[in-house]
Amino acid sequence: MSRELDRLPEIAAALRAAARFGTPVQVTDQATLEACAAAVRSAFPDPWLRAFSVKANDVAAVVERVASLGFDANVVSRGEWAVASKAGLPNARITFEGVGKTDADLAAACDAAARGEPLRWLAIESLDEAETLVDISAPRLDGRARLDVLFRLNPEVALETRHELAVGAGTSKFGMTADELSAAVGVVSAGKGLVARGIQLHVGSQLGAVDAWRDAVRRGLALLALVGGTRARFDTLDVGGGFPVLPLGETGPDAERFARELPPLLEAIPADRRPRRLAIEPGRALVARAGFLVARVLHVRDRAGRQLVIDAGMTELIRPALYDAWHEITALTSLGVAVEPRPRGRSGGSPIGEPGFEPARVEGPVCESTDHLGDHLLPPLRRGDLVAIRDAGAYSASLASTYNGRPRPAQVIVERDGRLTLARRRGTIAALG
Ligand SMILES: Cc1ncc(COP(=O)(O)O)c(C=O)c1O
Repeated sequence: MSRELDRLPEIAAALRAAARFGTPVQVTDQATLEACAAAVRSAFPDPWLRAFSVKANDVAAVVERVASLGFDANVVSRGEWAVASKAGLPNARITFEGVGKTDADLAAACDAAARGEPLRWLAIESLDEAETLVDISAPRLDGRARLDVLFRLNPEVALETRHELAVGAGTSKFGMTADELSAAVGVVSAGKGLVARGIQLHVGSQLGAVDAWRDAVRRGLALLALVGGTRARFDTLDVGGGFPVLPLGETGPDAERFARELPPLLEAIPADRRPRRLAIEPGRALVARAGFLVARVLHVRDRAGRQLVIDAGMTELIRPALYDAWHEITALTSLGVAVEPRPRGRSGGSPIGEPGFEPARVEGPVCESTDHLGDHLLPPLRRGDLVAIRDAGAYSASLASTYNGRPRPAQVIVERDGRLTLARRRGTIAALG
């Protein structure tokens, strides 16, 4: 792990962000974003097509930064599509997939193609969707307008991740079986202006090993070769995202380790049946480490041990409440005085035994007992002290809610020179309700 990937941005910048924009405030560190993007880019260099999965972080300014670092955008709704457009991406750099696409979504993709601004591709999920797309496209795509279509394969693999994140399991709601997919290709190919271009798959998130991913890619390649045997333009394999970001101190495969699986899989396919285009859709690996939430301590109590209640919780970062995710929490101040962040990690790196660091059970501010952020070793704290919730750049802002009447936090970017850029204002109480 490079030093930059393990960097809490200048403590001073975090304190300034809290002073200037209040708490809770979500901060994205530009230097870490650049380091994470560079790691994924060097694992999957050009001509790989790399699309950032906008669901991981839908703050337009962050999407724009990621795009400038060599990534296109992968979206699942017209809402995310609008965010990608706001971030400056033309449709030619946007791919649209997702299990929840509506008729209006499909129509918008066809309309864009009819205007001569087609998405890079639209990926469809089922035979129902294939038939609906053909109906919707018929009056829209005549003449020379073209829309490329990918077909989502359910790779039916056994996954090394939590079941909540195991979208590539056979029983999941995502994608088609090989038979359904072949039938959908036939349906779409009969549609006017629709071009069957290949297969999309996504194995799951936070993959703890490469084995299921390797199996899934092997299946995708085999099916692509089979279907592509009779369709010259069926030439694209999108292998999704899923590269994990584990708490530091815990090890898992990085993007480069996944990339190493590809060459032997490709070599096993006859040269004329290999995909001409390969794509990835990473989310978390690009943005998770770069983000952190700065929160203020509200209460310190003794409840069979020290209990803290802070002013950020499931409304800003639902992952701990939703699937028991663990995010390290670091004190930024102790009894009003700035403290240097300690080495990171749930074990090993924690300041166990350091004088003054004691366990604390950290709770969020929301009226739900699942709004719990885990047990952490922290120095003495009192109301008003500041803490940082780490690795909170993915599935945080995009999953945020205003439950309990809590406006969305401000989004701030720490530039390389320490300057703060306001990426999105704090929501207002007036806009609630
Ligand atoms: C289809 C698809 N692609 C890409 C991603 C991004 O996954 P990750 O953030 O784990 O890289 C997801 C996440 O759920 C997804 O569903």
